[in-house]
Amino acid sequence: MAAMKPLKIGVLISGNGSNLQAIIDAIDDGSLAAEIVLVVSSRPDAYGLERAQRANIPTIALNRDVYKDVTAANILIANSFKDAGAEYLIMAGYMRKVTEEVLSAYPDKVVNLHPALLPSFKGAHAIEDAFAFGVKVTGITIHFANQDYDKGPIIAQRAVEVYETDTLETLEARIHEAEYELYPEVISLLAQGRVHVDEETRTVHISE
Ligand code: GRF
Repeated sequence: MAAMKPLKIGVLISGNGSNLQAIIDAIDDGSLAAEIVLVVSSRPDAYGLERAQRANIPTIALNRDVYKDVTAANILIANSFKDAGAEYLIMAGYMRKVTEEVLSAYPDKVVNLHPALLPSFKGAHAIEDAFAFGVKVTGITIHFANQDYDKGPIIAQRAVEVYETDTLETLEARIHEAEYELYPEVISLLAQGRVHVDEETRTVHISE
């Protein structure tokens, strides 16, 4: 088989960036044919920026002032990723909403990672909420972002069992392990052109 052209991706972060790291590692070990062309952080103090710089990935750090004009911030984000040549945008712990300006520049090409099995436990505290509810199975969802937050077409999900002995911390750790495995796998499916959104049903099908 001819070598696949690496998929050019942009990554949006706000914090630790451990999912960004998992993507960097998968690219490094050859399991993911992608290239991260730019990392944008909503915060200047995000540790993920250091991870990107260590991997020689260009970065842009935004801050609270920039987001005072949300539209301008999102135009800046869209233009920066376009200029960098990103084909897909990967949100990895990005704590701001992407708006119309980004979504229309990347239709069905903005991917989000949510640490629960959507449509359960939407929002910013999904792991805590699921744990507090006492569910016996939770998990992770990777989906396309659209205007309705946490409601875009689902690409992949993985279940994570909640054990009797779990604390929030141990559950969180297993959720993250699942994320580090599944997110690079999904990006690899995107790189292989195997992810298709059905226009009518707005559901995702993965081709062979
Ligand atoms: C992940 O749990 C992700 O699901 C959630 O925020 C966390 C980001 O962690 N949206 P990190 O910044 O990738 O370490």
